[in-house]
Amino acid sequence: MSILSLGYLRLTTPDLDGWDRFATEVLGFMPAAGTGDGRRACRWDDHPYRLQLSAGEAADVSAIGWEVGDDRDLDTVVAQLETAGVRVTRGSDHDAAHRLVSGFASFVDPAGAPVEIFHGPILDHQPLVTPLVSGFVTGAMGFGHVVIGVPDFDESVGFYRDVLGFHLRDTWHPGGGMSMAFLSPSPRHHSLALGAGMPGPLLRHFMVEAATIDDVGYAQDRCLDAGVPVVMGLGRHTNDRMISFYCRTPDDFMVEFG
Ligand code: FE2
Repeated sequence: MSILSLGYLRLTTPDLDGWDRFATEVLGFMPAAGTGDGRRACRWDDHPYRLQLSAGEAADVSAIGWEVGDDRDLDTVVAQLETAGVRVTRGSDHDAAHRLVSGFASFVDPAGAPVEIFHGPILDHQPLVTPLVSGFVTGAMGFGHVVIGVPDFDESVGFYRDVLGFHLRDTWHPGGGMSMAFLSPSPRHHSLALGAGMPGPLLRHFMVEAATIDDVGYAQDRCLDAGVPVVMGLGRHTNDRMISFYCRTPDDFMVEFG
């Protein structure tokens, strides 16, 4: 097992200004030091950022970033991918600098999701300040989770389990041709969920985990006060036992705050 955890998510958005307010005043993230090129980034732990946003005509996923321990582990994962016939591109030093990482490689997964494997986040050593949230749960469990829609359930599950070595924690088949699989390389119950038979965008939602249930309740209050649509109110999932609610981002993605 070379991949440690979900490291970052990079998105494009037509509404950077809306995201600035939503990320800091509603979700409670810390604005991260930028890379000087107009991108925005959000911190919720020691990493230089966990979410990076670039201006784009459409809301889309630029990359789902998985962290490995060092450059040798990156080589191992690249070799696993190439053995499986996946075309992998090594990131340049210039592009690594823009990602605030020491090195990375990129590829497209079977569902068409852009994926990056990186090592060595470049820390800025500024203390984390999140006055609206007492803390976020990351560490060995990483960022949180992402959920993506996939056209071929078995192909995508097989790829993440057999090529990248993720643990398949459980699946859900509610009928109507829908299936979901919950996987992770880390102790987090799922860092990645794959959903098939459910029309929608590639990225269904991402999840962040706050330290306390009070943080979750206050975050939902901030959504309601700010007029941010709460798509699903507070409830507990039966598989990961996460108590969470779901709200809409300014550009129509969904965030699960648990
Ligand atoms: Fe979720």
